[in-house]
Amino acid sequence: MNTTQTALVAGLLAAVAVWAPATAAEATVQPFPDVSRIAPTPPMGWNSWNHFAEHVTDADIRSAADFLVSTGMRDAGYVYVNIDDTWQGKRDAHGVLHSNERFPDMQALSQYIHAKGLKFGIYSSPGARTCAGYEGSLGHEAEDARMYAAWGVDFLKYDLCSLREDMKKAKAEHPDDPDVAKNIMIDAYRKMGAALSATGRTIVYSLCQYGVDQPWTWGPSVGASMWRTTGDISDSYARMSKIGFGQAGLAAFAGAGHWNDPDMLEIGNGKMSEDEYRTHMSLWALLAAPLLAGNDLSKMGPADRQILTNPDAIAIDQDSLGSQGERLYRDGELEVWRRPLSGGRVAVGVFNRGESPRDVSIKLARVGFPGGASLRDVWKQKDLGRRSRSFKDTVPKHGVTLLIVSSR
Ligand code: GLA
Repeated sequence: MNTTQTALVAGLLAAVAVWAPATAAEATVQPFPDVSRIAPTPPMGWNSWNHFAEHVTDADIRSAADFLVSTGMRDAGYVYVNIDDTWQGKRDAHGVLHSNERFPDMQALSQYIHAKGLKFGIYSSPGARTCAGYEGSLGHEAEDARMYAAWGVDFLKYDLCSLREDMKKAKAEHPDDPDVAKNIMIDAYRKMGAALSATGRTIVYSLCQYGVDQPWTWGPSVGASMWRTTGDISDSYARMSKIGFGQAGLAAFAGAGHWNDPDMLEIGNGKMSEDEYRTHMSLWALLAAPLLAGNDLSKMGPADRQILTNPDAIAIDQDSLGSQGERLYRDGELEVWRRPLSGGRVAVGVFNRGESPRDVSIKLARVGFPGGASLRDVWKQKDLGRRSRSFKDTVPKHGVTLLIVSSR
């Protein structure tokens, strides 16, 4: 993050602290310890939802762990193995939640994942029900958090789901209080944040509430390392690009330890072209987004593997400066995005959102290098040498040229 961004975020966090209404629930909550070291760079891994959805089983998760290792994904940085919705069974008379018959032994599954040098992620909701109608954590936050810690959980995605109904009800009952729903939501997220923190285990806390009420302004105050900024992604260029290009304006809210999350990856799920998947990966890397693959790793072909494991794209995403990229300019269906990187370099994405190939010429002065620069083409995996004034290329339909630009 540059100095201006750091000051902006600090100011915003201070503003949130002042603005946050003091409710009875809040008064009892201790301030959060600094969680910024939990995810110094955007978390990377795999999540079951985009491919397996509600059919996921213990065997699918073990297989994903196996393939993360054998395909080189783990070594490229994809370490979290996250079970999404539908692992839950019933709560017993003591309030203890058990996994369902598709997940016979969570402890053993966690050990299997950890033994491979991977980390274990799980999913719940602050509501009574998850989005797929399974048991949520409402009223059981502390015991659920303790159970996750006992299982060796390293990542929790906490999905608003049925709490939305409680929020709607409160809004109808208190039409004069414009913040009633928002306060219910923030209190619920803070409650689980505090419960996770109280376990003493390092657990990435990932908020999923579809960007309602600008979570980027209050996510850090509930102990979150990342927060969804949008509704759900799907395996379509229209949806992916709407979400990805729609992230413009949010860069000031991301930085080491706290990340905007435009949702998980669809690369490899089959309904986009290779150029479109390269656009997906490039945008997420420029956005410093968490990279959670969502494909069936057992069927991944070489093209999808190369897109997901491109070392330069991953290096951009994981850059130590932690500065999120922004749109620099638009020219019709051309969009140029720029992300500052460590060492004075920048990443530049030249995107063609149009329906036919487009010749482009990018002035280096416009991306911050008036004296010329050395270029590396990320998708060609090739150093292009020095250019003194401009860079020219042809960008395919829905495609991208992604560059790493440096003055040396
Ligand atoms: C919501 C989330 C998705 C997924 C499903 C599971 O829609 O946004 O990412 O977790 O719930 O039910």
